Amino acid sequence: MTVSDELKKPGHPGPGSLKIAPSLLSADFGRLDEAIDAVKDEADWLHIDVMDAHFVPNLTIGPPVVASIRPYSDLFFDCHLMMTNPGEYLKEFARAGADGCTVHVEVGDTKWLLDEIKALGMRAGLAANPDTPFEALEPHLDDVDLVLCMTVFPGFGGQEFIGEVMNKVIKVSAALASRGSTIDIEVDGGISVDTAHVATAAGANVLVAGSAVFGEGSARARQAIELLRSAAC
Ligand code: DX5
Ligand code: ZN
Repeated sequence: MTVSDELKKPGHPGPGSLKIAPSLLSADFGRLDEAIDAVKDEADWLHIDVMDAHFVPNLTIGPPVVASIRPYSDLFFDCHLMMTNPGEYLKEFARAGADGCTVHVEVGDTKWLLDEIKALGMRAGLAANPDTPFEALEPHLDDVDLVLCMTVFPGFGGQEFIGEVMNKVIKVSAALASRGSTIDIEVDGGISVDTAHVATAAGANVLVAGSAVFGEGSARARQAIELLRSAAC
């Protein structure tokens, strides 16, 4: 099996390897089964954006939808919780079939939330908005399976990549290297064939992409992932 074939395997690729995570946010919500089917052989993870209309000014998917789409694929379900009170819903996400939950450091209670995610058998991620400094993430680097550096202000797809965030990705990458840690560094927002290599050069290995994958419809999604994967290397 080639490296490329290994990366295409559904399931749970090992930490550190390049992963393309299509974001369902840009898919047709009336045809989520079709969208998942279109990416399931080519994607590494499926990114699921949970917005509560409070932490961000938008309202999207909750645990019932995660449970409904779970039977359509064995892809790793990477749930990005843009919520003020994620702790009240972690059990529900675990029951719905989430494989990983990422909470935002800006909501506080970080240690408890990360411990709870892991206690529920999920991988624990910690996200930071573009204007949240590396120093807010640093104390938690030994407690997480994934660090998410937002490359747009969360809430909506289709925004422009904020290149300045790469300074933070470089700091996270260096801090992890000095610990001998190979946990995932994810970037989310404005990832395209033009920006993917900028993010991987800074040290990111999980690329979330919404409009770049689903922007031209599910029929083009598979090819869009292939293009992103090539552009990232
Ligand atoms: C934005 C979400 C992203 C979004 C990215 O708040 O967290 O996951 O889907 O969309 P694109 O790739 O279109 O910037
Ligand atoms: Zn996201």
